[in-house]
Amino acid sequence: MASFNITINGKKSTLEAEPETPILWVLRDSLGLTGTKFGCGASLCGACTIHLDGRAIRSCVTPISEAGGKKITTIEGLSSNRSHPLQQAWVAEDVPQCGYCQSGMIMTAAALLAEKPKPTDEDIDAVLGTHICRCGTYQRIRMAVHRAARGRTR
Ligand code: FES
Ligand code: FES
Repeated sequence: MASFNITINGKKSTLEAEPETPILWVLRDSLGLTGTKFGCGASLCGACTIHLDGRAIRSCVTPISEAGGKKITTIEGLSSNRSHPLQQAWVAEDVPQCGYCQSGMIMTAAALLAEKPKPTDEDIDAVLGTHICRCGTYQRIRMAVHRAARGRTR
């Protein structure tokens, strides 16, 4: 076991864990932050995407040792009341079907907008096309990202 100082959704925490433990297990099993989903466990589907120091990463293959001294943001930390422009755009465009892939999609979209406030279709496809949605919501996701980028939430 080792001890790690990590800021999670704005709160400083000290965690005890084996250094190689995937961040996803720490979030879900130790901290009860179940908004981040387990899909493949092999960096293939994107369901487990969170931010580490603002960068979208796949938490199923990233060990907790890489998060020491850094800031983790999960879907629970994106906004306190679902007011983030992407969350509102997701509702306005009626994106989620079963919903399983969607928190990872939103976290990747948030990192994209932070880097490119007005992304093109190609920009969106380049990052969100690497996520797997078995319900096929890709067209609506694109519309929702554009909607959030325009600042039009309703
Ligand atoms: S669960 Fe991490 S990429 Fe699929
Ligand atoms: S909404 Fe069902 S997997 Fe994407």
